[in-house]
Amino acid sequence: MNKTKVKKQVMDAYGFRHACKIFDADKKIGDEDFDFVLETAHLSPSSFGFEPWSFVVLQDARIRELLVPYAWGATKQLPTASHFVILLAKKSVDMKHGSDYVRYMMKEIQQLPDDVADEKNEKYKHFQESDFDIADERTMFDWAGKQCYIALGNMMSAAAMIGIDSCPVEGFDRKLLEKVLADEGVLDRQKYGVAVMAGFGYRIKQPREKTRRSKADKIRTV
Ligand SMILES: Cc1cc2nc3c(=O)[nH]c(=O)nc-3n(C[C@H](O)[C@H](O)[C@H](O)COP(=O)(O)O)c2cc1C
Repeated sequence: MNKTKVKKQVMDAYGFRHACKIFDADKKIGDEDFDFVLETAHLSPSSFGFEPWSFVVLQDARIRELLVPYAWGATKQLPTASHFVILLAKKSVDMKHGSDYVRYMMKEIQQLPDDVADEKNEKYKHFQESDFDIADERTMFDWAGKQCYIALGNMMSAAAMIGIDSCPVEGFDRKLLEKVLADEGVLDRQKYGVAVMAGFGYRIKQPREKTRRSKADKIRTV
């Protein structure tokens, strides 16, 4: 591996990425390229490996339009993005220790023997109730949501590596937006809530210069 070359490619991508406010509505991302972006969400790490998420690729223009009044941060991105992803975070009905979903993940997906799964569930219970203190509904949803942001970051970085623009979106009224999605049959509100969203596509104008605090102001080695 040529590290110098790879580092330059990564840094070029991080320089290229910006929060794209409006996309070129005529330019579509090819299936293979978007599959690559989704693959990075699929392979993203999650706490205990329990994948507290689901990703909706919202390509239905009518439903996108219905969301606009409740998504002030995406009024231009919703209608113009080639692909628009809603990252759903699982609620405590699934994420709570001992739930059917947690059992399914350990047994069917992680293929753990019963005794190992029981032990893991005990650790997970202690983690939820004591270490991280996330047992109440809202905190557990937010904990699941934090993990969705890892997938979001990976998708945006991967997209930038192949010249695809993106915009992360949390400018929305969660309750009202979720109601639309539930009414349209896109969201099961018992199990999921909207963590964050993201548009992907191609820019039509150049972004402003990046503004960042100095590294010295935010990074320290002790
Ligand atoms: C979690 C998150 C939510 C964001 N929500 C929105 C949004 O709703 N609408 C928008 O236009 N930009 C949104 N942004 C973009 C930020 O404003 C932007 O990333 C920041 O100003 C830095 O600029 P840059 O990404 O172009 O470097 C969001 C960014 C993050 C990380």
